[in-house]
Amino acid sequence: MASENVIEEKKQGQALITENKSDNKKKLFIESYGCQMNLNDSEIVASILSNQGFNTTINLEDADLVLVNTCSIREKAELTIRKRLQKYNAVKKINPKMKVGVLGCMAERLKEKFLEEEKIVDLVVGPDAYRDLPNLLEEIDAGRDAVNVILSKDETYGDVSPVRLNSNGVSAFVSITRGCDNMCTFCVVPFTRGRERSREPKSIIKEIKDLVDKNYKEITLLGQNVDSYLWYGGGLKKDFKKASEIAQATAVDFAQLLILCATTFPKTRFRFSTSNPQDMDLSVLHAMANHKNICRYIHLPVQSGSTKILKAMNRQHTREEYMELIDNIVKIIPDIALSQDMITGFCGETEKDHQDTLSLMEYVKYDFGFMFAYSERPGTPAAKKMPDDIPLDVKKRRLAEIITKQQEHSFYRTKAFVGKTVEVLIEGVSKKSDLQFKGRNSQNTVVVFPKEHYKIGDFVNVKVEDCTTATLIGTAVGYSENN
Ligand code: SAH
Ligand code: F3S
Repeated sequence: MASENVIEEKKQGQALITENKSDNKKKLFIESYGCQMNLNDSEIVASILSNQGFNTTINLEDADLVLVNTCSIREKAELTIRKRLQKYNAVKKINPKMKVGVLGCMAERLKEKFLEEEKIVDLVVGPDAYRDLPNLLEEIDAGRDAVNVILSKDETYGDVSPVRLNSNGVSAFVSITRGCDNMCTFCVVPFTRGRERSREPKSIIKEIKDLVDKNYKEITLLGQNVDSYLWYGGGLKKDFKKASEIAQATAVDFAQLLILCATTFPKTRFRFSTSNPQDMDLSVLHAMANHKNICRYIHLPVQSGSTKILKAMNRQHTREEYMELIDNIVKIIPDIALSQDMITGFCGETEKDHQDTLSLMEYVKYDFGFMFAYSERPGTPAAKKMPDDIPLDVKKRRLAEIITKQQEHSFYRTKAFVGKTVEVLIEGVSKKSDLQFKGRNSQNTVVVFPKEHYKIGDFVNVKVEDCTTATLIGTAVGYSENN
């Protein structure tokens, strides 16, 4: 998600491919930038287009259709995509029949303007309009530009079965909510992804069952704000109070969904992302404590350690309330790992506010962190009402300080695993050595160890002998009881 992420640099701008159908004749080059939700959406798009005669390709030069799923979260993300479009432009000179479509948040934000600003673009499709792709493709085949950026009240793609792109065959993402109602003042997501709505539990369980039948071992439930999940028969979260008494009484919340997943698939590991402190309920913590197959890891963005800045960001909690939540989490799930998102240099952030962020980090000692310098986004409440008044060099210096602090804490956390035995799901071969496997423990820390006779998809116990700031290094001591 983040270039400043100290833990892992996500591969971006890489062709996404899947198994192809032999009677499909057209070629789709699709790539995804930004968050995991975008990657999952690209899987939905590839599935819709697979039924329209498209197979995926890794060669841009061969493509009949190029689709790029875009991110607007920071200015840098948008600039990266603009640069990528120039590359498509160069390829189009060799392959003039190639059509180019822009999907995702930038499509939603810029709408028709995209066609004017970037001549290479033939097609602009927002995150709720992917079902319309077959019609839109007909439009461009007829020589017309095609734009659909209508946001929906109920689109969850619940009945589309995503094809898995560049999958390791072991872990997969399943979307459970779309959109966000929170209106953090810095954030463009509520404008690009619309209002919050939840997906029906039955369709979530069906998708997970298909994955489990295909031997997937770990599922990450995805949403902008998973703790806010609420199924009451369909419709927007904000309309829940208007629903019938029966609908309200039989509604399924996030803790109930987690329990349903964990008990229906007791051998499958579950993760979820992202949690919002204001919506995280103690019932979710108890569900985690009671079900070992819900991983001991919570990504709990806080953005700032200063109550004043949290208020300016329209986050619905204070520093103290967040600390109380952390205390509860650690009490209920003592072996929990926590990670943060932080923004430095938000409007009006003083040196004292920055020190509050550092001291909050000291209090929590997060296992991981995703840290960013504030980037003003057009149209957001902050852009409209608050001056972006912290100089870039100050934002960057503060960012460097929190990254250094996070590295110290990550190392503190990985060192605590040395000498212990952890359960690891093997996800693939280590990047550094063909002789080693890599996987993650329940706490989401990467573990590498010699392959021996094990194979990808096995659950193994690994004795940790050494570590770096981000990786545990060990030796497998046998299969785990989950195997
Ligand atoms: N709830 C979402 C948050 C999406 S944005 C989720 O599922 O992850 C991810 C992170 O990007 C935020 O938590 C925030 O730390 C960062 N971010 C969002 N808008 C930003 C901006 N304008 N400038 C810098 N960082 C931003
Ligand atoms: Fe953005 Fe805040 Fe929602 S960070 S995605 S508006 S929870």
